[in-house]
Amino acid sequence: MYAALCSIGAYVPSKILTNADLEVMVDTTDEWIFKRTGIKERHIAASDETTSDMGMKAAEIAMQRSGLEKSQIDLIICATISPDYFCMPSTATIIATKLGLEKVTAFDISAACTGFVYALSIAKAFIESGMKKNVLIIGAEKLSAITDYTDRGTCILFGDGAGAAIISASDDKTKGIIDIHTGSDGSFADLLMTPNGGSGSAHDELDREAASCFMKMKGNETFKVAVRTLTNDVIEILKENNLPSSDIKHFVPHQANYRIIKAVGDALNLNDEQVVLTVEKYGNTSGASIPMAINDIYESGRLQEGDLMLLDAFGGGLTWGSAIVPFAGKSRII
Ligand code: UT7
Repeated sequence: MYAALCSIGAYVPSKILTNADLEVMVDTTDEWIFKRTGIKERHIAASDETTSDMGMKAAEIAMQRSGLEKSQIDLIICATISPDYFCMPSTATIIATKLGLEKVTAFDISAACTGFVYALSIAKAFIESGMKKNVLIIGAEKLSAITDYTDRGTCILFGDGAGAAIISASDDKTKGIIDIHTGSDGSFADLLMTPNGGSGSAHDELDREAASCFMKMKGNETFKVAVRTLTNDVIEILKENNLPSSDIKHFVPHQANYRIIKAVGDALNLNDEQVVLTVEKYGNTSGASIPMAINDIYESGRLQEGDLMLLDAFGGGLTWGSAIVPFAGKSRII
């Protein structure tokens, strides 16, 4: 059996936070943010809107587009660093219940911005081993809940949203995910982290800082490792699969920063048509950014059945991953 990406969906909350809005919140400018990141605006969830609410909405669209019955979904994986609840229950189980999926296997994974690629690799393994047939993978983030809006180094970057995909078993090799690379290096953990609130933080010195789950980032150092790691990773995965970059119809990178995307795209000699960019309107939505970007090209009609996508992500951990994925569309064979 091969694991085929058959369907995609996404949800974006309606409230928009523009660079102009941020100018009155922290010491920054629209010009600085756009020049350094490519971001103009990001969407922010309502205060009573949770990560599972957004994940559920994205999943509903992906399921409806797949034509599958609810009962056919046999595994749900949610990639998130902003779960509804700290530790438990998992956001995936809450999404399952909101979707009306009873007794389905459901769990979260924590791989930050690489979460969707990690989830894809787990779905692939479950399907190829024959354990599951139709896996719903979701990247959903309410990053506004863990963003410090007094820290100009991070608050200008992040947004909220969710994306979902259905990965199904197929006996047609041409529909199957070709390859996935994943990796991590915990020695860089301090570059991008939520230092407080876990078993590693000092609970005896509980204060506002220690009680918060705000993200902290060493932006410039992260930037440099991101460009180096992502470039090496995509060059390697294409080489291992004997694929020239001209065979890639859509390069769908994690949308962290336009300059990172441009550097990796240039290293692969990709033209503008091949590179999918959503960072300008959504900012960085961590684990949700890749499925949201795939959904964008699907809804605009750019993504056609058989198109080859190169996915590429990098995030806290540090973690990274890339994947070569044909869009199988409705041609799924179960
Ligand atoms: O998604 C997971 C992975 N994440 C990433 O890959 C993000 C990687 N990092 C980045 O995208 C970039 O490093 C940032 C956009 C976060 C920062 O851009 P940078 O070009 O690396 O800037 P910098 O941190 O080196 O700071 C340059 C200057 C500093 O001022 P001085 O020391 O030169 O006077 C900062 O204090 O820009 C200043 N600065 C700002 N100025 C206006 C930092 N943040 C801001 C801001 N507005 N928001």
